[in-house]
Amino acid sequence: MLEATHSPAGTAAAALHYLTDWSGRTRIGLEIWALPRTDLSLRATNCLTTALSEALSNVERHSGAKLVSIAITYTAEHVLRMTVSDDGTGFDRAKVPTGSGIARMRAAFAELGGGLSVHSVPGAGTTISAAAKCWG
Ligand SMILES: Nc1ncnc2c1ncn2[C@@H]1O[C@H](COP(=O)(O)OP(=O)(O)O)[C@@H](O)[C@H]1O
Ligand SMILES: [Mg+2]
Repeated sequence: MLEATHSPAGTAAAALHYLTDWSGRTRIGLEIWALPRTDLSLRATNCLTTALSEALSNVERHSGAKLVSIAITYTAEHVLRMTVSDDGTGFDRAKVPTGSGIARMRAAFAELGGGLSVHSVPGAGTTISAAAKCWG
């Protein structure tokens, strides 16, 4: 999906391509707030690929959303941030057990020493936010 590349806008171009394809296939609207201005390291790319694909798979399979809003940023200090926010059904975290998908996206950020949170409100949608400082 998001392949590591050395062209200047490689990560952003790959992400845009992947997101546009996903939106066309699922017919869920896409709002892109931000894409990385510089290429990600290989480790950061792997982390983002895992987390983004699990988050979007949940939007597609569980949310009934009409729109998903996405921000991905990567600073000069190698801090990766990702937000995926949908306007779907949401769910009650006290009642719905965490599955393997959320565990996988959390593990991807934890592996880099980062963190991920899931904020969901029934009737108001779900937001995943995550950040990690990618040393090397
Ligand atoms: N974006 C979302 N909108 C609505 N419900 C969600 C969303 N993301 C996750 N869920 C709920 O959380 C559960 C756990 O998700 P996950 O850990 O990815 O496991 P799985 O997708 O295999 O069920 C889902 O089964 C679903 O009930
Ligand atoms: Mg899932």
